[in-house]
Amino acid sequence: MSVTDDIKARIDIVDLVSRYVPLKHAGRSYKACCPFHEERTPSFVVSPDRGTWHCFGACGEGGDIFSFVMKKENVDFRDALQILAQEAGVELQQEPEGEDNRERERLYEVNAQAAHFFRNLLHRSPLAQTARAYLKNRGVNASVAESFQLGFAPDSWDDLRDHLVSQGYEYAFQHKAGLLKYNEDRDSYYDAFRNRLMIPICDRQGRIVGFGGRVLDDSVPKYLNTAETPLFHKSSVIYGFDKAYRAIRDADAVVIVEGYMDVIAAQQFGFANVVACMGTAITEDQLRQLQRYTHNFILALDADSAGQQATIRGLNQARQALQRVTKPVFGPGGRMRLEERLAANLRIVALPEGRDPDDIVREDADLWAQLVQSAQPLVDYYISVVTAQTDLESAQGKAQTVAELTPLIAELGDDIERQHYTQLLSRLVQVDEQTIAHRVQSAGRSFSHRRPQPDERSNRQQAAGSPPPVEQTESGPRVGLPNSAVSNSSQPPKPGKRAAARPDVSVERYLLAMLLREPNLLIWLSQMTEKLEVPPLDVDDLEDIQHREIFAGLKRFLAGDELWDVEHFQETLNGDLHEALAELMLHGLELPESDTVSIREAVVKVLIRLRRERLWSIFSSINFLLQDAQESGDRQALLGYSVAINTNRRERHHLDRVLASINRAPYGVTRTEQGVRIA
Ligand code: UTP
Ligand code: MN
Repeated sequence: MSVTDDIKARIDIVDLVSRYVPLKHAGRSYKACCPFHEERTPSFVVSPDRGTWHCFGACGEGGDIFSFVMKKENVDFRDALQILAQEAGVELQQEPEGEDNRERERLYEVNAQAAHFFRNLLHRSPLAQTARAYLKNRGVNASVAESFQLGFAPDSWDDLRDHLVSQGYEYAFQHKAGLLKYNEDRDSYYDAFRNRLMIPICDRQGRIVGFGGRVLDDSVPKYLNTAETPLFHKSSVIYGFDKAYRAIRDADAVVIVEGYMDVIAAQQFGFANVVACMGTAITEDQLRQLQRYTHNFILALDADSAGQQATIRGLNQARQALQRVTKPVFGPGGRMRLEERLAANLRIVALPEGRDPDDIVREDADLWAQLVQSAQPLVDYYISVVTAQTDLESAQGKAQTVAELTPLIAELGDDIERQHYTQLLSRLVQVDEQTIAHRVQSAGRSFSHRRPQPDERSNRQQAAGSPPPVEQTESGPRVGLPNSAVSNSSQPPKPGKRAAARPDVSVERYLLAMLLREPNLLIWLSQMTEKLEVPPLDVDDLEDIQHREIFAGLKRFLAGDELWDVEHFQETLNGDLHEALAELMLHGLELPESDTVSIREAVVKVLIRLRRERLWSIFSSINFLLQDAQESGDRQALLGYSVAINTNRRERHHLDRVLASINRAPYGVTRTEQGVRIA
């Protein structure tokens, strides 16, 4: 039994949830008003048999005890695991490298000590006179300086070093923390930061992971940052996050600026949801961390970078790479549908030439508020930049505009968005839409190497010496499925029985094992689902929390630039998931080898089966709600639930039809000389 199963077995989900909302009996389940959104008629259902919860209202989300705590307490999986393990009295295995953990703790400590040292100097030392004057001159007030723990590094090669030695930190360790530099010729260590205003950089929990040091005059480099250390990774640090995260959640938006001083000024003037991305382009990693608090990102870009296609392309790609979420949503009249929402809404504020948020906020806070208010969606923004620079009447101007904008449009994952901007561009340059659509298509192909298509990738592997795909006949070996995984029967499980059964995760375990063995399958699968008009495989298709986390990680990894590598992938996952990953990989190895067609066919079928199960469980829950509405005579709710049931039925029938057509002929999969192609 895995730790999560153990914890699940010990914690009663009804007990857990009712600490947050009062639950009412409804058949086999319990219901309540959803604790995650405002509502008056209960649409939140807890099923003790399955150990799951689901909101059939506006948020349309569901999961188990872990995802409930994650969402309710706004913590990640690891934290939720810790909270619930403690409650259940289950001992979590210590991180294998206890040594490593102790070292990290000590690195935090030495950073805190250094910050303390710098801060004392800033306050007291006669040597820090210029630094104090500098802050005053920039209008940084004392309480903000204090809350950001600003300090001063003296103009010395060894003051910090010697101070920290007296506190018991050896040279090599200070060096590891990035506080000292090492001179090979002299075999000696010296202070990394000298004669600078010191800005501690904290992680989300407020622990100091590194420093930025600013010169007090015009010398260069203007800022020095801590080198990469076990704690400090420039590409994932978000400056000011510890002070901003609550405000980000409350405002449901984050404003991202470029510099330390911009964040400090914003906080001083009451703009609390502002963070900075360390002067580099914002990374996917940073967006992902912020995404736990909001999906609305507002980027304040300086005039230089804001006009550059490279910047915008980078942002667009990061945005595309963020998870898309598929959710059942109640539409008007209670119609329920699966809606795909883009998880990230990225808007741009272009700052006036030569000015940064720091200047603007200090000079005219209202202007800053206005600028943020008027931020434009990324693609619209870039269209306005490009078209402002070119003469749209001339043939050359048109061609140039189309050439610059089509790659961006092609990258949009959402069909409707893509079409919208294709139309917009066609109107702008007065060229017929089909021509533009064509260009968008070929622009899409030209950079598809970022995400190799399955066939391309296997070609590459072939070139690297692995055997070509084996041609096999229709009657070739079957894939080792759990008994029922690809059952051809379109006979639904009995709803009553379904609800009583513990969720059977062997099917999703099989699916994940296959995907991990052959990650290209996921890319193929998403093309296939599109063709079959079935929503793509989504985290919500999986019940098991570890499966969910691993799958989310897999999608993230595949969206990146790196080629597949299991060990590398494992590093991107939380340590708590490593065992589950290993287990899935092993399971994958145990599954018999099979030819590509059979595997693909099996994977589509498994997905459809999972999807049908989900629809059935949703169906039985709506049924409870319906009965309830009948008893209480709530006609509006009654109508809503009836419609939802019809939609649910239609979706199930669609899946049955799809399944039947796959069984007739492996849908859209044909064999060619080269192997297997999607039709
Ligand atoms: P800016 O030069 O815009 O910083 O660089 P700023 O905060 O406005 O600086 P002030 O107002 O002159 O003090 C933006 C960010 O880029 C990084 C820093 O993180 C800075 O906050 N940067 C800049 C460096 O890391 N090194 C540099 O030499 C310059
Ligand atoms: Mn500035």
